[in-house]
Amino acid sequence: MNVTVVVPTYNERDNIARLVNVLQEVFRENRTDGRIMVVDDSSPDGTAQIVRELRKKNTNVTLYVRAERRGIGAAYKFAFPMCKTQYVVEMDADFSHDPRELPRFLDKLEKGYDLVVGSRYVKGGARLDPFYRRVFPVVGNWLYRKLLGFPVTDTTSGYRAFRASALAKIKLSRLPNDFSFQSAMIYEFMRAGRRVGEVPISFRKREAGTPKYAFKDLLGNIALLLRLFFFGRA
Ligand code: GDD
Ligand code: MN
Repeated sequence: MNVTVVVPTYNERDNIARLVNVLQEVFRENRTDGRIMVVDDSSPDGTAQIVRELRKKNTNVTLYVRAERRGIGAAYKFAFPMCKTQYVVEMDADFSHDPRELPRFLDKLEKGYDLVVGSRYVKGGARLDPFYRRVFPVVGNWLYRKLLGFPVTDTTSGYRAFRASALAKIKLSRLPNDFSFQSAMIYEFMRAGRRVGEVPISFRKREAGTPKYAFKDLLGNIALLLRLFFFGRA
């Protein structure tokens, strides 16, 4: 089994080295041919320089540095076509997503799912971040399920895994560049008749640095919901 874990970074200096180390352990423990692809948008804190150093000892790590900050969705759209493995995983750099939970995703892909979304809202899942960050998603997720029939309980979750052959068929260019990319991808997989499933994850407050998901991203997700509902496209 081979997998690429794509990690978008913007100012993750204090997280990225440890994340790479923990991922390598997870790959080893699970006898997985794992690769790590970091997509950095020229973080002013020097994240890319740390990854360059790491690359000397970690030959399975690749780094792409983009000229400017273009959003998490844009980073994934850029990265996906370059992944050469059977499976592709999305993971935040800040330890909100536990790398040790990766095998759950891979097991589910092995069972035939094309997209596996990590959910903070199913049995066994947890959300350990502040209250104000938890209320809006409850409403948002409910709407995505009721109005669009989304088959998952955590629409915006950024911890997920794809079957590369299914991912390759999705036309990425029209999809959003911001955080609403995540919901748009679920829609694309649904529309393509793909098997979409979920696994529980425990989501923690980031260990270092600052979160980027902001109020405008909430609005972006509402706007996407409306576009999908009324026009059927992202
Ligand atoms: N390259 C790049 N460019 N990376 C970015 C950008 C960008 O413009 N913006 C954010 N990232 C990276 C961060 O460095 C991190 O690794 C990951 O994308 C997620 O960003 P966070 O800043 O940690 O997001 P958050 O904690 O506010 O939001 C969380 O909740 C959202 C809503 O449920 C994340 O888990 C999101 O993935 C999720 O959609
Ligand atoms: Mn985060």
